[in-house]
Amino acid sequence: MQGDFRKIGGDNSYLSVFDTKFSYICEEIRKPPFNGRIYSRVFLASLANFATENLRQLRAYILKLPLKYFMKLTHVLAFVTALPLAQAPVFAGDGSIRPGEIWPDNTGVHINAHGGGVLAHDGKYYWYGEHKSDHTSSALVGVTCYSSDNLSDWTNCGVALKVVDTEGHDLERGCVLERPKVVYNALTGKYVMWFHLELKGKGYAAARYGVATADNPEGPFTYLRSGRVLPGIYPENMSLAERREAAALPRLASDPWAEAWSEPWRSDVRLGMFNARDIVSGQMARDMTVFVDDDGKAYHIFSSEENLTLVIAELSADYTSHTGRYIRVAPGDQNEAPAIFKKDGTYWMITSGCTGWDPNEARMYSATSIWGPWTRHKNPCRGPKAELTFGGQSTYILNVPGTDNFIFMADIWRPKHPSDARYVWLPISWADGKPTVEWQQEWKPGEL
Ligand code: DGJ
Repeated sequence: MQGDFRKIGGDNSYLSVFDTKFSYICEEIRKPPFNGRIYSRVFLASLANFATENLRQLRAYILKLPLKYFMKLTHVLAFVTALPLAQAPVFAGDGSIRPGEIWPDNTGVHINAHGGGVLAHDGKYYWYGEHKSDHTSSALVGVTCYSSDNLSDWTNCGVALKVVDTEGHDLERGCVLERPKVVYNALTGKYVMWFHLELKGKGYAAARYGVATADNPEGPFTYLRSGRVLPGIYPENMSLAERREAAALPRLASDPWAEAWSEPWRSDVRLGMFNARDIVSGQMARDMTVFVDDDGKAYHIFSSEENLTLVIAELSADYTSHTGRYIRVAPGDQNEAPAIFKKDGTYWMITSGCTGWDPNEARMYSATSIWGPWTRHKNPCRGPKAELTFGGQSTYILNVPGTDNFIFMADIWRPKHPSDARYVWLPISWADGKPTVEWQQEWKPGEL
């Protein structure tokens, strides 16, 4: 659908924003029944932000479209002709969150911050996430930042961590940069971002963490480094005997994937076969979150060992490196997308299974110490599509500051049109002493 419009604008981020706006217009118009609310909000606000030249080109493009589109596009034409070109309205919502719907920012464009998390700091919220383009899930722009006072109306603060055009750089445009999370370090006064990094052209083989810091919440973040986690160091919850046994596993010497998924193979995985395999290079680090405990200690929590086992690793006092202490959690359970919170001394972690971009049933674990033992519970989701996490995959759980309220956040991925992925934010409620996430079509954080 982009056609000639790919020529508009000089830099990729601008192109992508333009593509996104244009795709919405086309998609919303084609959707029966015609969605008047989204149409007027998103479309009007988007068009008003276009420069005169872009509007001319949009008009020309629409006029060239085949007749079959034309009836519906008469609506568009009316707007294109009538719009006061220089006016850029500020989009203000009504304080509601509508899971799964387009979520316009202050300029009327769907928020582009996927797989992200929210930092609550100094009375404000900052939402960081992956900027997704329209055609690929690889990172073409970087990590975006939005700010808000009320969790429903978000102001686009731009790109907090940018990908770069230097060939061979860890953050080279086209790398995979996923699930960024930002925490504030009171000791240094720095904002620290952790993320999952895959090197350009290498698929998901690198399995590295990345870390960056900034002096301001909106960035710019300065990239520090990437890597596997804690080479040479064994997890605390693996005894000496288990370490020896895992390292001596015969299938490790031949092929760790031989007889994959058979019960003996699963048992070797649980024992730590992949941890032992990666002890020299360091542990794999993919889907991740960062959690700051009430004593100020922070933890990097990530999918490791070929996504078969989770790891919780303690961070240094400045939050920019690992201390060396870590544990394996739920070995062999195949968890991705960890999101965690703590209430009344209990840690609750909601995760997903591993089905690529497709949704699956959420899992939940709890522990009274971050160092475990961790107990598995049933899916906490309730309501339509609860067995598929409402079509989404967990990414973060926010504790609303000064309250006992928690908000579960998930992404409904759209791998064929990544920038149009949607957000599912829902408040956590409690049943029988356990967290539940109940579907709601619309709710207001201000009424929690
Ligand atoms: C599921 C992960 O949770 C996402 O972050 C992403 O890595 C996709 N897999 C890729 O298939």
